Amino acid sequence: MSKQTPQDEAKIVAGRRVIEAYLKDGMQIGLGSGTTSYAFVRVLGEKVREGLRVEGVTTSTITRDIAREVGVPLLDINDVTQLDLTIDGADEIDRAGRMIKGGGACLLWEKIVAYTSKRMIAIVDETKMVDPIGAFPLPIEVIPYGWRNTMHQLATLLATFDYDAPRLELRGGSSDPVVTDSAHYIIDCHLDAIPRADELAPLFNQIPGVVENGLFVDICDEIVIGHFDGSSEIIRIRD
Ligand code: 5RP
Repeated sequence: MSKQTPQDEAKIVAGRRVIEAYLKDGMQIGLGSGTTSYAFVRVLGEKVREGLRVEGVTTSTITRDIAREVGVPLLDINDVTQLDLTIDGADEIDRAGRMIKGGGACLLWEKIVAYTSKRMIAIVDETKMVDPIGAFPLPIEVIPYGWRNTMHQLATLLATFDYDAPRLELRGGSSDPVVTDSAHYIIDCHLDAIPRADELAPLFNQIPGVVENGLFVDICDEIVIGHFDGSSEIIRIRD
């Protein structure tokens, strides 16, 4: 097995802190996607084997497979109307909880599951904390039909926010595009910085062809940060 890096350790530290701070018997929780969430689901599996009673709704087929492997009981999203909590990672997050998500191409299911949760807890290692967000390319999930046209409409919207010919790329390239769990494509927008994320976020979804965007604003309630020195920290954004 490959050696754990300090970053891997920080993800596990954050996962253990989430379990201590938030999880209670009987909770129904959203399980995020990405390496930080997978580390969390594995720690959660240990706790379930020790007797913790929780049920999860997963945000990707990968998370579903890991949760099954480690014995976390699962629910179908169609059978719930509200979850107690969602625990999910971020590609970038600022101290007000604005996030870029979708690096793992799971943003649509992640947003659906977060939306159906009373509280959303972002779980990150310290490298994910930035200000402003935007160095990580912003993923936009689009339907395959007319994706080049949708990309053009995205560039037109971004021009109104003073992005001058930003680099927009179909993830995987046109000969082998990445296909999401919902059979969509991802367009990555290289913007460098997104200081007006609150204004921009709702506008993407007005473009026909866009299914969802990777800006998660006004969604995160608390951030749990795992540090490389083995400590952890909680930032409470709203009660
Ligand atoms: C997947 C996501 C992930 O939460 C995000 O990419 C973070 O992943 P990681 O924990 O591997 O850095 O949004 O769509």
